[in-house]
Amino acid sequence: EQPEKPVNERLLEICALLEEKIPYYNWVGFYFKNGEKNELKLGPYVGAPTDHTIIPFGKGICGQVAISNQNFVVPDVSAQDNYIACSITVKSEIVVPIFVQNENIGQIDIDSNTIDPFTDMDERFLEFVCKKVASIL
Ligand code: SME
Repeated sequence: EQPEKPVNERLLEICALLEEKIPYYNWVGFYFKNGEKNELKLGPYVGAPTDHTIIPFGKGICGQVAISNQNFVVPDVSAQDNYIACSITVKSEIVVPIFVQNENIGQIDIDSNTIDPFTDMDERFLEFVCKKVASIL
């Protein structure tokens, strides 16, 4: 019997698949709560490298989702004041929290180089992905 792949390898494959299959998903990554600290830590991702490997709760779109426990869809990042820019090519962003036993333990973060591409279907789809992810953590 094959041993199970490490979780981070599986998460990276999910990132790669999403980035490859959905043309307006240009950076796809996971952030997870960093132990007992009030911050997020970057997990597996696909796309341009980012300096933002640690994000304090409340900072940027990701940090806000760590506190709100709700999806955050940003159609136009230039209209956000609490936003952390990772790359100048990014025009929009969606962040969907991951719940394990009703606790927000992290999130999927997707950046797009297209303005306003995300619909309700993206939210429903990414909620589904996050449930699957929760089940393998
Ligand atoms: N834009 C995010 C930071 C993470 S990067 O998109 C990879 C934010 O405002 O939280």
